[in-house]
Amino acid sequence: MDGNYPKVPKYFLYVLFILGSWLLICLLHFRQPLFQLSGSGVVVILPFSRHASSSAPDDDRLSTPSSSSCDGRYVHMVDLPPQFDVCAEGSPAFNSEHSICPLMSNAGLGPVLTPAGNHSDDGDAGIVPNTGWYNTNQYALEVIFHHRVRLYECLTEDPVAAAAVYVPYYPAMELHPHTCGLFNATVRDGASEQLLRWLSSRPAWAALGGRDHFMVASKTSWMFRREVVDGGDDTGCGNSFLVQPESRNMTVLTYETVIWERPQQDFAVPYPSYFHPSSAGEVAEWQARMRAAPRPWLFAFAGARRPNGTLAIRDRIFDACDAAPPRRSCGKLDCGHGLEGSITCRSPRKLMSLFASSRFCLQPPGDSFMRRSSVDAVMAGCIPVFFHEASTFEQQYRWHERDPDSERNGRSNNDRRYYVFIDQDDVLQGKVNIEEALSRYTDGEVAGMREEVIKMIPRFLYKDPRVRFAGDMRDAFDITIDEVIARISRIKNGENLGRTYYSDGAVIANGS
Ligand SMILES: *[C@@H]1O[C@H](CO)[C@@H](O)[C@H](O)[C@H]1NC(C)=O
Ligand SMILES: *[C@@H]1O[C@H](CO)[C@@H](O)[C@H](O)[C@H]1NC(C)=O
Ligand SMILES: *[C@@H]1O[C@H](CO)[C@@H](O)[C@H](O)[C@H]1NC(C)=O
Ligand SMILES: *[C@@H]1O[C@H](CO)[C@@H](O)[C@H](O)[C@H]1NC(C)=O
Repeated sequence: MDGNYPKVPKYFLYVLFILGSWLLICLLHFRQPLFQLSGSGVVVILPFSRHASSSAPDDDRLSTPSSSSCDGRYVHMVDLPPQFDVCAEGSPAFNSEHSICPLMSNAGLGPVLTPAGNHSDDGDAGIVPNTGWYNTNQYALEVIFHHRVRLYECLTEDPVAAAAVYVPYYPAMELHPHTCGLFNATVRDGASEQLLRWLSSRPAWAALGGRDHFMVASKTSWMFRREVVDGGDDTGCGNSFLVQPESRNMTVLTYETVIWERPQQDFAVPYPSYFHPSSAGEVAEWQARMRAAPRPWLFAFAGARRPNGTLAIRDRIFDACDAAPPRRSCGKLDCGHGLEGSITCRSPRKLMSLFASSRFCLQPPGDSFMRRSSVDAVMAGCIPVFFHEASTFEQQYRWHERDPDSERNGRSNNDRRYYVFIDQDDVLQGKVNIEEALSRYTDGEVAGMREEVIKMIPRFLYKDPRVRFAGDMRDAFDITIDEVIARISRIKNGENLGRTYYSDGAVIANGS
């Protein structure tokens, strides 16, 4: 759906077209312990099933968690047979020239960033420290999340005792080599359909029809909603993973959900950025650095124009930026201009140093509404500027956007100001000038909003999933797990989430 707004799919016309085609895959359930990802000389060995792991940290802790703190929080991780190990060496996703499996070294974090100051093309990127920062691929969450679950303190072997059942399948890694282009339904949907049929044939599924199962699908929701029409064409983007009956029963975590959909079918969680600390001290240090950073730019933008003005808001933003030089108010990373542009934009040091030297970071819609860049902006303490309601954290990342501290202190979350909203239609119609609108905020207002952004950093980052985190800090994963368990326990209590939906934990609408 490059360059276009995604259409809202026709949920109500959705037909159960797969009945009677259950594929029961009865393979030997032997242990296939090693799952290899190799790339640029790095080989990571990830035990695919937890108990096959010889390197699982602290097995005592895993098997005897302190029962009181784990009450109601047990998670069971499904032991997937080897054919569902998407990135296994020799698998279709691994062998494809478009595979992103090789980018998943370091438990999904990707390569450590090269030290600052070594490569001249990294610019004055000394703001980013030399530890805790990785060149993380934007689709890496499936792998990072899987590793985090393996370290989760309340794992159980017994699906019946579990509050929630995690399925460590990687639908986005599988889809990636054939996301867009000419591919038939078998190529697009085959692998994930087989996984779903296998999953739903297991006893653990039967009790609740899979409604206690959850998994990560690390692309936008739109990419998993391609409806298959009989004899339909093989072009376009995405597969039908999220419109399968099994995934409709599960809680699926994506990067961007369809905010208008009720009941909500999948739940958005933040893109991984580049910062994956292993201690709370590291985070506090970075937050202090972002508070103190000089910010000469009023606003910044990293992105590309779209061909032939197909995304007019992008053109207006480039115009605003190019018009700025007399006052030097805009910093930009132009990701256009082919390979060179995309290489520039793939330098996390350059990107973070731009964002850390800007007050506001513009986040117009792109292929879809939410951008990874919005999460990068949070990491840099740069106040995001959204141009569409569906791009806001309130609409997409509402689990992570809420500030529990501010609620405890009796402040409503609505009082928190940490972003600017400029309606893109107003910009396109010439009613609003971006630079003028942003320069109206006083230094005090900017500092106040920035402080809220900086306080969000822990909730929007993913800790290093390979080590035990030092210190007390809840990250995006911790928040997600708690919310998933809370949602599944409401399902188990018989609440009809089909008709009732939740916002910030409160019932806000009920059809009956
Ligand atoms: C830069 O990298 C090279 C290897 O790529 C290394 O030999 C050299 O010591 C590095 N220089 C600095 C200043 O880190
Ligand atoms: C789908 O495409 C694959 C690979 O191009 C091909 O092998 C297969 O026969 C096609 N299936 C159908 C049903 O057309
Ligand atoms: C989904 O859940 C409902 C309610 O528990 C159940 O009736 C249905 O069979 C489930 N669907 C699948 C595909 O398991
Ligand atoms: C842009 O427009 C030109 C001329 O109208 C056309 O040749 C070209 O194919 C268009 N490009 C895209 C990507 O639509």
